[in-house]
Amino acid sequence: MTFYEFLVFLHIFSAILGMGPGFVMSFVVTRSNPSNMTELRHSFAIRNKLHIITMVGGTLLLITGIWMGFLNTYWFSQGWYVSSLFLFLVALAFGPTLLKSRSKPIKELLREYKEEDIPEEYNQLSKKLFFVEHIENIIFLIIIALMILKPF
Ligand code: HEM
Repeated sequence: MTFYEFLVFLHIFSAILGMGPGFVMSFVVTRSNPSNMTELRHSFAIRNKLHIITMVGGTLLLITGIWMGFLNTYWFSQGWYVSSLFLFLVALAFGPTLLKSRSKPIKELLREYKEEDIPEEYNQLSKKLFFVEHIENIIFLIIIALMILKPF
């Protein structure tokens, strides 16, 4: 196995291990259908664990992807490669901006709300957060399609 082939191997492994948990992050909360604050907090605790795996996988994807580009600079002339890199950086920028501002009030609510019923405010806040997460998931799906098809 050449070093380049090793990078491809690591890249595909990271894609499966890292992206899979990322895609189900919002569903862990919505599909588990939490009926009180204890269950909701539990769903978010699972989500946070999944997010760690996604961050490790995502970082490895970027590092191995750029490394392959440096070993085979022809990729930088290819539309699928440059577009994927751009889209990936856009998705990455979602984290500290759109996602952070939408998840902060939810975290505060989970920490500070003392009753057991789930307040209506949570539904509104989570809708906004999950909307951005679904856009991010679509971006990742586009990148996966670009990676496999290398269409242009
Ligand atoms: C959501 C993020 C990503 C996923 C899920 C992903 C997934 C994949 C998969 C499954 C392949 C194998 C496709 C094949 O060869 O048939 C691949 C190839 C490749 N990826 Fe990614 N990738 C991602 C992000 C990136 C990024 C950001 C870059 C560039 C910085 C990149 C660079 C590459 C390169 C250069 C190859 C081709 C390897 C080769 O065939 O020699 N990937 N990717």
